[in-house]
Amino acid sequence: MALERTFAILKPDAVGRNLQGEILSRIHKAGFKILAIKSMRLTKEEATGFYAVHKERPFFGELIDFMSSGKIFAMVLEAENAISKWRDAMGATDPKKAAPGTIRRDLGTSIQMNCTHGSDGPETAAFEISYFFSTVELI
Ligand code: RTP
Ligand code: MG
Repeated sequence: MALERTFAILKPDAVGRNLQGEILSRIHKAGFKILAIKSMRLTKEEATGFYAVHKERPFFGELIDFMSSGKIFAMVLEAENAISKWRDAMGATDPKKAAPGTIRRDLGTSIQMNCTHGSDGPETAAFEISYFFSTVELI
């Protein structure tokens, strides 16, 4: 199995609660290489472009407000099967339904404030990585 890349975000709830160290430690222990990382605060326009696939969902407005409410950490993770491996490490969207030991179960506080984002497939991973990082940042 070849190495794969996925895109991850530490969301404003995680950064606001100073959970970066805890989550980065879990990322290292799970065997990911952090290929690139940066912190920023998204504008509403930037968050809207990132989550455009969700624009018809009832929670879209709240999601954009939340994702632009504070600083995030955006990163590219590399591992074998990185996309599914990272989604497994995060757990289900709703922390109450996430398996014990997952990031969202242990650290998330609501279906919206669930600490992390992860790409859901190869095409979304490619789009999301290119939305935040240029080619030279990924060498
Ligand atoms: P993500 O894209 O952030 O990795 O999360 P996901 O695939 O597990 O969930 P998705 O359905 O893509 O939803 C994106 C994010 O929207 C927020 N959400 N709020 N209020 C709600 O019912 C609701 N449902 C989802 C969460 O922050 C979710 O991660
Ligand atoms: Mg998703």
